[in-house]
Amino acid sequence: MRVGLIGWRGMVGSVLLERMREESDFSGIEPVFFSTSNAGGAAPQEAGGAPLRDARNLKDLSSCEVLISCQGGEYTTEIYPLLRKSSWGGYWIDAASTLRMSDDAVIILDPVNADVIRQGLARGIRTFAGGNCTVSLMLMAMVGLFKTDLVEWVTTMTYQAASGAGAAKMLELVKQMEWLSDPTRKSPSENALEVDRMVINAQRSTSLPVTEFGVPLAGSLIPWIDKEMPGGQTREEWKGMAEGNKILGLDPPVPIDGICVRIGTMRCHSQALTIKLKKDVPIADIEQLLAGAHEWIRVIPNTKESSVRCLTPTAVSGTLNVPIGRLHELNIGPEYLGAFTVGDQLLWGAAEPLRRMLGILREHLG
Ligand code: HSE
Repeated sequence: MRVGLIGWRGMVGSVLLERMREESDFSGIEPVFFSTSNAGGAAPQEAGGAPLRDARNLKDLSSCEVLISCQGGEYTTEIYPLLRKSSWGGYWIDAASTLRMSDDAVIILDPVNADVIRQGLARGIRTFAGGNCTVSLMLMAMVGLFKTDLVEWVTTMTYQAASGAGAAKMLELVKQMEWLSDPTRKSPSENALEVDRMVINAQRSTSLPVTEFGVPLAGSLIPWIDKEMPGGQTREEWKGMAEGNKILGLDPPVPIDGICVRIGTMRCHSQALTIKLKKDVPIADIEQLLAGAHEWIRVIPNTKESSVRCLTPTAVSGTLNVPIGRLHELNIGPEYLGAFTVGDQLLWGAAEPLRRMLGILREHLG
């Protein structure tokens, strides 16, 4: 199977390559590495010495049965329609959001929707898009409740990492952190109010690096992610219900909404969930349903010790584990469940569903 990789040098692409190497995904395929800027240059070792191909050369792209793109939405918008118009009938696997909501595309997250993916393949679908990271991580955590039809609605209040906005944003976050701690390094003080003054002055200084975020994120937060939508939502918030229900294949849809917030973490998104259940279910049964959904879920006991140790970006970063904890009935009523979940935005939120889709295709095509 000839598999073309586009955008493998960027952040999501690099994580994808790393995971494909770890899982020996390159054995038994013929990888072809494309570039938008360096055609003819040296490709990764898996290319076996072949140079990089031009990512805008439709003939070279069409020679692949599968194309995996982490190049971004603009590339997809430019190239995908041309490829399909040229009657290329291969499989397109994409990290970008461009094609997600199209009727011709399935959103891939196989531990949650392997059935939807297989039905799509049987229908002749050849376009597969990874979901929004926040939505994918929420579903990875909650799928056990959705699959048993227990969920009436969900609100999700997010704590999203810098990586969701791109590599440059992560670098700026760390530069901001350095800038904030610089005054206290130069004039150490044990007086908290004095230190606070130094930090707020640094945050409000016109010299703080804000080219990427526009405002301070380090030591602060940004309660707005992506574009404005009608009705007061942001696009990131809109995706919760639109993509969530498409991934699960639910009709009628389950209402999902909330407020999406950027915080100063590097690559793990966290979410506080309020779940309205269709009936009162004992917490022990809920834990069992959640835990049985797939092998990456970790149900964390609702104790201080376990929550602060296991349910944080620091604990989860770089792993495929999806912990969900703080599970308890809310004072609002017996059918209202509180929960908190964390997931690595670059793994299950981006690269992992793509490499697993390649595996599903290899099985499907025999
Ligand atoms: N839009 C997300 C974010 C990235 O800004 O965090 C993953 O979908």
